[in-house]
Amino acid sequence: MPKLRFVKILVLGSGGREHAICWKLKQSPLLQRLVIAPGNAGTASLGKNSDVNPGDFGAVKKLVLEENIDMVIVGPEDPLVNGIHDFFLDDPDLQGIHVIGPKKEAARLEGSKDFAKDFMNRHHIPTAAHSSFTINTLEEGKAYLETQKSPYVLKADGLAAGKGVLIIHDLQEAKEELSAMLLDAKFGQASTTVVVEEFLSGIELSCFVLTDGDDYKILPFAKDYKRIGEGDTGLNTGGMGAISPVPFVDEAFEEKIRTRIVQPTIEGLKKDGIPYKGFIFIGLIKVDSDPYVIEYNVRLGDPETEVVLPRIKSDLLQLLQSLAEGNLEKESLETDDRFACTVMAVSGGYPGSYEKGKPISGLDKIEDSIVFHAGTRIVEDEIVTNGGRVMAFTSIGVGLNEALSTSYDNLARVQFDGMNYRKDIGFDL
Ligand code: AMP
Ligand code: GLY
Repeated sequence: MPKLRFVKILVLGSGGREHAICWKLKQSPLLQRLVIAPGNAGTASLGKNSDVNPGDFGAVKKLVLEENIDMVIVGPEDPLVNGIHDFFLDDPDLQGIHVIGPKKEAARLEGSKDFAKDFMNRHHIPTAAHSSFTINTLEEGKAYLETQKSPYVLKADGLAAGKGVLIIHDLQEAKEELSAMLLDAKFGQASTTVVVEEFLSGIELSCFVLTDGDDYKILPFAKDYKRIGEGDTGLNTGGMGAISPVPFVDEAFEEKIRTRIVQPTIEGLKKDGIPYKGFIFIGLIKVDSDPYVIEYNVRLGDPETEVVLPRIKSDLLQLLQSLAEGNLEKESLETDDRFACTVMAVSGGYPGSYEKGKPISGLDKIEDSIVFHAGTRIVEDEIVTNGGRVMAFTSIGVGLNEALSTSYDNLARVQFDGMNYRKDIGFDL
């Protein structure tokens, strides 16, 4: 691989996470050119949006060669799980280009919950007890449910767009859902295997790790708010807001996360002979005073990225260059001690059906917040809504309340038809 210095980067994805990545890269003197595929109205102000679907590897290749790209940062999980990194390594024209994100085998940590559970058990990483079932073992699955306590946690093994986890109180209903997942392919291919898991009761947090497969850096911890309704009620969404740091992570708890979870994860990948260059997002739950892994993701989280990256003082591009070259060890990670929060403005009706194309006004009145675009696009010089999650309002403050009140002041300055947001981000802390 060629040595990097000043780089031309392609970011794949179109959400608030990708806008935040671009915003952070843009601060680096090492950035030479920034292309985003497909991007949104926010990324358009930082680089060149290209109307290429990240799932179309042939089109990505064409773009990479046309734009003379040196490094590709993969935002969402799908291209990774589908092997975009392997695609680059297997193609003589693309072999010299660095891909930030794991190869297909390591991406199974997110792409297969069964694989992830086996990995954790093999490396003694604390997680909920589980058993996995297929159509051939449905009856064993039902019998297993009878031995478990309510609530029952049923997870489709594969990617199911964040909808593949069911938490069910009634035993009979749990058995029926298990049948529906295995016999009726409730989640399609994703539920060919179902993981049945012990329910863990506690408070969740997100831990992002940057690794070159040898060394690692733990990025600032964050907590996201997934439910649509205030007080964490109602349907699950892609994320309605996030905060960082997480006040209940003290030094002792952080040390447990490092020694019981992060180190064994990196060591485990090494022992299994699975190279990994990229981000690992570990979804954690604090049960009493101990951390357990709920899930692995092989990318950054959204909207956590919108609070994590603004708290990183170090040059992200420099970190990624060192990561790509296998030299992460020589880098240090400097962070801002202050609080960051982000509040997501969403379309009316989301996470159910919603309309797109609503003009967004008031963005010129923003003061002291950063607006990361998610579902937006430019139509005839006007910024309009283009998704369920529309924009994340990020602010920094000495305390959490200061950060939150800046975000809420700015949310009040922006309008679009049907705009909705949670007024209680951070309510539980
Ligand atoms: P996942 O897609 O694995 O992140 O699961 C979605 C959500 O389900 C998590 O964020 C948790 O809130 C919840 N969840 C998953 N597994 C468990 C578990 N074993 N115990 C309690 N809650 C869980
Ligand atoms: N915020 C959760 C996720 O990105 O999956």
